[in-house]
Amino acid sequence: MNQKLDDFFEKVITVKWGPDRESVDIIDQTLLPGTIKRIQIRTQEEIWEAIKKLRVRGAPAIGVCAAYGIAVVANQFPDSDYQDFAQRFHEAKEYLASSRPTAVNLFWALNRMEDTLRANVDQPVASIKEILYREAEAIRDEDVAISRNIGEIGFGLLQSQKVDGEELGIMTHCNAGTLATAKYGTATAPMYIALEHGWKGTDMHVYCDETRPLLQGARLTSFELSNSGITTSVQCDNMASLLMKSGRVKIIFVGCDRVARNGDAANKIGTSGLAIIAKHYGIPFFVCAPSSTIDMNTPTGDDIPIEMRDPEEIKSMWYTEPMAPAGADASFNPAFDVTDHNLITGIITEKGLCQGDYEKAFLELGI
Ligand code: MRU
Repeated sequence: MNQKLDDFFEKVITVKWGPDRESVDIIDQTLLPGTIKRIQIRTQEEIWEAIKKLRVRGAPAIGVCAAYGIAVVANQFPDSDYQDFAQRFHEAKEYLASSRPTAVNLFWALNRMEDTLRANVDQPVASIKEILYREAEAIRDEDVAISRNIGEIGFGLLQSQKVDGEELGIMTHCNAGTLATAKYGTATAPMYIALEHGWKGTDMHVYCDETRPLLQGARLTSFELSNSGITTSVQCDNMASLLMKSGRVKIIFVGCDRVARNGDAANKIGTSGLAIIAKHYGIPFFVCAPSSTIDMNTPTGDDIPIEMRDPEEIKSMWYTEPMAPAGADASFNPAFDVTDHNLITGIITEKGLCQGDYEKAFLELGI
């Protein structure tokens, strides 16, 4: 427990209920770090747009937002008969599921909500609405506990790398932090748990890749870690190799959007390159994965759908002046890449650390 840290988490909480639970209240992450602004989204179109435009983003947070969102949307349906309610729910679920393709938590959370609805077929619709609210809250609460466990395991790894009197260099990519989850983040959880265990912010030095093209590392990770008192630097993505060669980075933690059964892990574009460089320099590379992000129905990384995004995100969308001529082709704009399982030192789930034969390790943990 660290009150200052908890106060900060409360300030930037990703997803909560709006007044009377008639909307979902999110921090608009497209405005960070300059502006901390909360918005309330209520209709299925608003929720879809918030996920698509990355107002809310990061695999676990997308799942929580979708669960909260579908509970809010379902509450707007008439208290008519069950069949009508279930049909409307299903259509809204399919619509929200079309917002982004890669993070499996979106589908996992929406399916879990629909399973809850179906399991309560004998209840009046008004009661089912309340049950759905409670299920969404359970998904959120579980996410806090999951990140905490990941953080405890990751903290053990930090301790094993720490040299007394020296700051420990840690690298991360994109944002797998509190802004991407319900509380501790996944890749950042080891650092936050270290603070809870009494480490000072200066005991660590987190190197945040800026993460082109949408700068989640620069805008979000460095924002949240520096506000938590952790020594933080931002570097351009193409500086990672030199930084690793310099010896300053002792361990790398990244998040993921979907892990295939064989351990191949999709995460923000640029992650697989980091893993290749880390292997070259012998730096341990860990993927932090809630079990909801591990998709046992996806055999290998080749089966993970990769989201392609608007070329203007590369050329102009985030700049006051265009950074490429209007006619320049930037149509190759994948949001994610897949890191081969054999480049990953270990996958940290809330149930334990998986290494070696990932499929076997996942099954042993009951994933
Ligand atoms: O496109 P984004 O910002 O949603 O991508 C986020 C990531 O790649 C994260 O690393 C991943 O979702 C894990 S968040 C705990």
